[in-house]
Amino acid sequence: MSSALVEQSELDALKNDPLNFISAEGDVSAKEEGDVVIYQFRNKSFRLDKSKARQRLEGKKVINGHRSAELNVLPLKYHEAYRIYKQMKANHWEPDVIDMSKDAHQWNTDALSAKERWIIEMGVGYFSAAEGIVGDSVLHVIEDNLTAAELKHASLRHIAEESIHMDSLLHIIGSLNIDLDEVTAKFQDIPSIRKKNEFITRHMPQLKMGIDLTQTPNKQKFAKALFAITQVMEGTQFYALFAMVLSLHRQNKMTGIGQMFQYTLRDESNHIALGRYILSELIEENPDIWTEAFRAELVDFMSEGVELEKEFVRDCLPEDIIGMRQQEFLDYVEYNADRRLAGLGLPTLSKIRSNPFGWLDEVIFLKKEKNFFETRVTEYQTSGSVKNSNEDDLI
Ligand SMILES: [Fe+2]
Ligand SMILES: [Fe+2]
Repeated sequence: MSSALVEQSELDALKNDPLNFISAEGDVSAKEEGDVVIYQFRNKSFRLDKSKARQRLEGKKVINGHRSAELNVLPLKYHEAYRIYKQMKANHWEPDVIDMSKDAHQWNTDALSAKERWIIEMGVGYFSAAEGIVGDSVLHVIEDNLTAAELKHASLRHIAEESIHMDSLLHIIGSLNIDLDEVTAKFQDIPSIRKKNEFITRHMPQLKMGIDLTQTPNKQKFAKALFAITQVMEGTQFYALFAMVLSLHRQNKMTGIGQMFQYTLRDESNHIALGRYILSELIEENPDIWTEAFRAELVDFMSEGVELEKEFVRDCLPEDIIGMRQQEFLDYVEYNADRRLAGLGLPTLSKIRSNPFGWLDEVIFLKKEKNFFETRVTEYQTSGSVKNSNEDDLI
């Protein structure tokens, strides 16, 4: 690949020096010139003192690195985190501009069966607490312990998106006139939800108090929390209920909620990718974490998460209904768990090798390629109001 700044031959020579860099997309590059490094970044030039830049780069670590208050991402070390950060920003959406009038009409008439209503109620009930758990854990357990600026940037964006997700639940509750106290009371006592939440948050209080991350067992606790939040909870335990709500959307039912869940799901795919990337970098920098026993511990943890999730799926969908087969959702849980495990080079758990909901992946990835939100953001700026359109409909 050539670039306006660096020729291919130069690029090959520079590849192994982190101070001289050009991104695959060509929008970030750096080149040494005498005592300075010239960064081309976000269409601007930055001149950095070479020795200070090298020092800063060497101090950058996932954990236990140099901490600085200014959170300056240059010189960039963790490029993939910055790429995901930009992708998250490009996907920005606002819940309260999503038109919920059709949902409200369907909710207040008999357009939905009792079993379909239950799925929506479970969606609202589970995610109301779950989004908060993720946001709180990423803030106090993950972001707080990260030391490299670009990782913190991406992680802070992750937290902000959890706030958007929390906001979307409020938009649903308000639009459908659901009693907030009733929802909270009803769902905090459902055993399958309580067990899922307790399982994920079990070790968080200790991590929130701050632990010495120079010790291997503590590094492993941090790595496990990262795995628990991003790969088990967001990556596995969110997907079946997403798929149920989006199956209703496919049948033209509760399409405003479906649209919000579609955007949320796309956000989640970035959160999972970010978590996997941070975890991979953490392990590379701290190989003492990645013992055989620890790898087995993570697989066991995922296995427990899968069993709890299957119990939850059976609660959400006790039997097959039109357009939804319970077994497919159970398979989907295993399929997702395996995707997360394989993504980290860990052994998989099930024999499910194909996605029972291929259409769902298509929805997420096609929309990304279309960069749908570029037009959406313009609409925010011009009219301040967004209506559901055919473009948003599921295929
Ligand atoms: Fe979320
Ligand atoms: Fe998330």
